[in-house]
Amino acid sequence: MALCAALGCQAGAAQPSAVEAPLYRIECEPDQPCRVDLATYIGWRVFQAQCATCHAADARGSSFAPDLALRMSTMNERQFFAALDQGYFGSQSSMPPRGRDPNVAPYYDELWSYLRARVTGALPPGAVERLPEVDGPPAD
Ligand code: HEC
Repeated sequence: MALCAALGCQAGAAQPSAVEAPLYRIECEPDQPCRVDLATYIGWRVFQAQCATCHAADARGSSFAPDLALRMSTMNERQFFAALDQGYFGSQSSMPPRGRDPNVAPYYDELWSYLRARVTGALPPGAVERLPEVDGPPAD
């Protein structure tokens, strides 16, 4: 249990549970942008618009904001949502709370998909494109 929390396996792709649908679909080919499902794509777009100025385009962090691939490796979804709701106020740097921000609050799930894909390494740094998608669950 504690190990599971430490490894974040609750939300990891390696251990899907019955209650949790797969978080993301990603297809990468050499020398091309990876193609991702709609939620992950939206998460990437929101991240670029709202988070990348501090955490960098690939979420690897900057001199004043942490590398999310590291920081989120031990975070579950609930902790992530709480972090966005609360923001962070430090003496050197701060992060605005986003719980009421119409550009962020509706997209927590999508941000989680994108960032989990980055944290697990399923999605390498770089721009992404949308997978062609029909409505409804993926057919396989
Ligand atoms: C104005 C700069 C800034 C922006 C914009 C920003 N952050 Fe942060 N973020 C920070 C700082 C600073 C910290 C905390 C540093 C620390 O704890 O040492 C942080 C921490 C975090 C953490 C870790 C919180 C924890 O409890 O460990 C997460 C997750 C995070 N940010 C996600 C995001 C996401 C997602 C967005 C976009 C919606 C975002 N941030 C936008 C500066 C920013």
